[in-house]
Amino acid sequence: MRNKKLMAKSYFIIILLLLCPFAISCWIIYPDSRCNPGLIRIYQWASGFASLHVPKYTVQIINEAWHSKGVYDVQIGCPAFASTTLIDPMVLRRTDMANCLLKNGSIIRPGEVITFDYSNLLPYPFIVLNIKCLY
Ligand SMILES: *[C@@H]1O[C@H](CO)[C@@H](O)[C@H](O)[C@H]1NC(C)=O
Repeated sequence: MRNKKLMAKSYFIIILLLLCPFAISCWIIYPDSRCNPGLIRIYQWASGFASLHVPKYTVQIINEAWHSKGVYDVQIGCPAFASTTLIDPMVLRRTDMANCLLKNGSIIRPGEVITFDYSNLLPYPFIVLNIKCLY
């Protein structure tokens, strides 16, 4: 009996999630709920040392917005980010105190991987703040 109730509850939640793109509350949060920052994955790992033995990290950013033709205007939160080595501004460019722009705002195709290295004493927790999708 309890199991049935639990199952009914989980079905309800699944249905709610499926309906989300069409529900008014979702549209208020994300006018295009299928186009959200979670579609851009960021992986990074330690990859050796830059000069003066400063740790180096390799970042891989992957566009997983398979439902779209691509994403653009990808904004990355980077308030306290710094690197002792230069990062190609066409890959990652600071636009203001808190934001960095990926690939100068141009289109990133589904499955495309963007890679860059930076060096700092600690790894920096990048997050994607905003994206726009191309259909
Ligand atoms: C980068 O984007 C800005 C603003 O969209 C543009 O003015 C500039 O020419 C772009 N830089 C390059 C090298 O394409």
